Amino acid sequence: MTTPEKGLRWGILAAGGIASLFTKDLRTAGLDVAAVGARRPGAAAEFAARFGIPHAHESYEALAEDPDVDIVYVATPHPQHAANAILALEHGKHVLVEKPFTLNAAEAARVRDVARERGLLAMEAMWTRYLPHMVRIREILAAGTLGDVRAVFADHTQRISSDPLHRINALELGGGALLDLGIYPISFAWDVLGAPLTIASAAHLGQTGADNEVATIFTHAGGAISTSISASGSAGPNTAHIVGVDARIDIDRVWYNATSFRVTAAGGTVLEDYVSEVEGRGMQYQAIAAEGIIAAGRTDSDLLPIDETVAIMGTLDEVRRQIGLRYPSEAN
Ligand SMILES: NC(=O)c1ccc[n+]([C@@H]2O[C@H](COP(=O)([O-])OP(=O)(O)OC[C@H]3O[C@@H](n4cnc5c(N)ncnc54)[C@H](OP(=O)(O)O)[C@@H]3O)[C@@H](O)[C@H]2O)c1
Repeated sequence: MTTPEKGLRWGILAAGGIASLFTKDLRTAGLDVAAVGARRPGAAAEFAARFGIPHAHESYEALAEDPDVDIVYVATPHPQHAANAILALEHGKHVLVEKPFTLNAAEAARVRDVARERGLLAMEAMWTRYLPHMVRIREILAAGTLGDVRAVFADHTQRISSDPLHRINALELGGGALLDLGIYPISFAWDVLGAPLTIASAAHLGQTGADNEVATIFTHAGGAISTSISASGSAGPNTAHIVGVDARIDIDRVWYNATSFRVTAAGGTVLEDYVSEVEGRGMQYQAIAAEGIIAAGRTDSDLLPIDETVAIMGTLDEVRRQIGLRYPSEAN
């Protein structure tokens, strides 16, 4: 497949809530949205008309076959991610797959392996990692401003819906706070402190069996600790903090969106006051990163390598094992 000089041609797989927000951001960034595919009759045509997209397909297969698409953005519920991503990869398309990348680590490894066999990019749409404030935070950490980092804590708590049929509660749609929301603070802990060495978890499962609240405590190299709280029925502060012996970083609400942060020395002096200036929601940064990776002839993200995505899914698997959460497609 050749990469057009003017940039990649994006295909949007599914026309639901996040597909709309992402497409809006692709438009904000002036990227080329070539096609959309949706299952519901008429949904692709409506979506295409709304965003001025040239091709509308009545199935994901037709989208995957579209010769005018270079990269497919997968925006279905998580249990569908692996099959949808593999469909696109098998038609020679790169894929950017919504978080969580898949339902579990085994599925994530399958997607990775198909992408590797075909020399294509498979990237998790963990858009937070690509936001400018996170890029700056990684620079501050690399400069050693915080000294030895001892703790990371964050919450991702939203009041979404108590409807048992809603995606957040329905187990057959991958429902639960951990996979939908907890992936953010857990991926953040991985980013700052690396792989967890030990994992402890607690959760409250709601009436459908999906986790409404989940908390995790990890230890990392050198004894550093990360904690997370995620909830789908109550909205908390949604802030994140990185604590080092010399200074700390406090990321303001909503920390996983484009936002501000401060670096404060152990003695109380503010060392940096970062103000975010991002157009739109900020989901375009991951898309621009994907385009840059492919333009450079590479097939993996340096900010979130596919092996790390698979390993993070393994961390989520272990948390789910501890809290007794299995999905219908995994039962047997
Ligand atoms: N990055 C973020 O900030 C963010 C925010 C919210 C959600 N997400 C992620 O994005 C994914 C989709 O979430 P969403 O909120 O966009 O969900 P949504 O609004 O319910 O949309 C899901 C879409 O997937 C398609 N789909 C395919 N198979 C389906 C099935 N068996 N049941 C229901 N729908 C099915 C639907 O139909 P059509 O094909 O007909 O359109 C629908 O448009 C999830 O993995 C979620 O974790 C990410």
